[in-house]
Amino acid sequence: MSYLTILYDVRDAIAFVTINRPDKLNALNDQVVEDLRDAAERIATDPEVRGALITGAGPKAFIAGADIADLARQGPFDGKARALRGQAVLRRLETCGKPVIAAVNGFALGGGCELAMACHIRVASENARFGQPEVKLGIIPGYAGTQRLPRLVGKGRALQLLLGGEMIDAQEAYRIGLVNKVVPADQLLAEAEQLLRGILAQGPVAVRLVLEAVERGLEMTLDEASNLEANLFGLLASSKDMREGLTAFLEKRPPKFEGR
Ligand code: COA
Repeated sequence: MSYLTILYDVRDAIAFVTINRPDKLNALNDQVVEDLRDAAERIATDPEVRGALITGAGPKAFIAGADIADLARQGPFDGKARALRGQAVLRRLETCGKPVIAAVNGFALGGGCELAMACHIRVASENARFGQPEVKLGIIPGYAGTQRLPRLVGKGRALQLLLGGEMIDAQEAYRIGLVNKVVPADQLLAEAEQLLRGILAQGPVAVRLVLEAVERGLEMTLDEASNLEANLFGLLASSKDMREGLTAFLEKRPPKFEGR
């Protein structure tokens, strides 16, 4: 299936998703969100796909935010519906059970920063810029930026970004823990892919369960989440991957995981 506003290409078990509206700095209009909804579902359910890498088309922007022309027309009820639709897409990506990496190649503002935060790992090019500039427009983030940003960088730093609306550069984003790694622009996709392939080389069932423990567990109390972790830890003992991983170590050879 082809999309109107994104490119979706599966190569060697990785879904490469490119937001493709470079003339509008890849702004998230309703069609992009709908295309991303379908892509997130494919990533989650296609057994051929084991991880995903998301980037923006063109040299300038990852995503410069929700499409301001759409927002300018909305009323209270369709505004809420738009926010809920976007939130659901980002949460589907976050809980798809497979590692998703954002390769941030320029502006990641508003909904762009929110989408990057819903990915499990963020790699940024040196020219990337991050921000939640909504207050400058008299609005607030709608794709759960007010929730994911403080979880990632702490409440004080998050409020500074959310209340001031200023952009920060890639190095500052790295310093505060918003991105995992900063690389030269011409190496961004290769570095992000290498990072993802490194994860895909680990025990696949273990990778899936780490994601589940973190993404579900962070929303629970410590006791509930620790119990979830213990359940998943026990569940792994029923997998061939666990036997293979431990046996390979004891036999001093590399493991051959089957993903079950
Ligand atoms: N929604 C809709 N269109 C957008 C957009 C957005 N969030 N961000 C950029 N665009 C469009 C511009 O309107 C322009 O379209 P045009 O050529 O038809 O006029 C095109 O993308 C290029 O943007 P431009 O502003 O000319 O580029 P720039 O290099 O001068 O500035 C930014 C880049 C990112 C600083 C600037 O585009 C900007 O501030 N964008 C909005 C960021 C924002 O507030 N995002 C949060 C939205 S909730």
